[in-house]
Amino acid sequence: MIIEDKAQPVVLTGDRTTGQLHLGHLAGSLHTRVRLQETHQQYLLLADSQALTDNANNIEKVRSNVLEIATDYLAVGLDPRKNTICLQSHLPALAELTMLYLNFVTVARLERNPTIKDEIHARGFGRDIPAGFLVYPAAQAADITAFKATVVPVGEDQAPIIEQTNEIARRINRTAKVDILPEASAMIPKIGRLPGTDGRAKMSKSSGNTILLSATEAEITAAVRSMYTDPNHIQVEDPGRIDGNVVFTFLDAFASDEKEVERFKSHYRRGGLGDSKVKRYLDDVLQALIAPIRDERARLKKDPGYVLSIVEQGTQHAREITQKTHDELVDALGLFRLS
Ligand code: TRP
Repeated sequence: MIIEDKAQPVVLTGDRTTGQLHLGHLAGSLHTRVRLQETHQQYLLLADSQALTDNANNIEKVRSNVLEIATDYLAVGLDPRKNTICLQSHLPALAELTMLYLNFVTVARLERNPTIKDEIHARGFGRDIPAGFLVYPAAQAADITAFKATVVPVGEDQAPIIEQTNEIARRINRTAKVDILPEASAMIPKIGRLPGTDGRAKMSKSSGNTILLSATEAEITAAVRSMYTDPNHIQVEDPGRIDGNVVFTFLDAFASDEKEVERFKSHYRRGGLGDSKVKRYLDDVLQALIAPIRDERARLKKDPGYVLSIVEQGTQHAREITQKTHDELVDALGLFRLS
């Protein structure tokens, strides 16, 4: 049973179902979501339809990660009584709203979206951009507005998508001559995106530079040992750099004892502190952080029927909400509707 408080502001977050969640997600918005569940009405969207926009050749990946991510949500402490966990492909109103919104955005505007531009480049699509991929900002606008979300926790790279969502919402409101869709604000974490363990900008499974929330003790230790530090910090006595040093970036993101981290930093800068010592400290921090999540995950994996029932209930609930927004919009715009 999902407990709704209509007075609470609405939050929508989504994850493409292309892989298990990792420490980057935890630092990025999972911790924020765990906090927001106490004060906001929160919807967690398993974005399998959006995942398909660049994975049409990898349907198995998109399918198998639906319940993996739902399991991750529950394992980090997102409470199914306080959050609605729902499956995008099973919310037909989202697809219908997407079709509608595509008439309120131009191809040129979609092509100019900085997120889309970067992602097209990163994926090496060249001229072969899947049409579904190009228009995913309109689909994401449908996601956000269908729930009437006003807060959207996302990484910095997604900010232009929220901006475009608001443009579409304003055009719809102007056409309907009533403020039916609220505008949304992106909630972007201050620490920025967590780099991969190899120092690359992004954690991704294909680069092998991630630490999953299901990582074993040995996997965590191996990942920390291999972490990119300061390549010029060769001898223990050498002064070291903190900037761009992944070990310290991770400590900033996850260590609770900030004073201790500051002590490590100044000692490292001064010289005389070896990488292995700092890494041992980070290893302790990450082991303590991940152990309870991994254990809860393992427990949930033994009960897939339970996880499935949470997604079913949440999707049922979300279907009603998104359908209601769809119908309101059809009426406000004055479209023909068979009652
Ligand atoms: N595009 C988001 C990402 O890649 C995932 C997503 C889909 C999303 N629908 C959403 C995020 C709605 C927030 C709100 O991370």
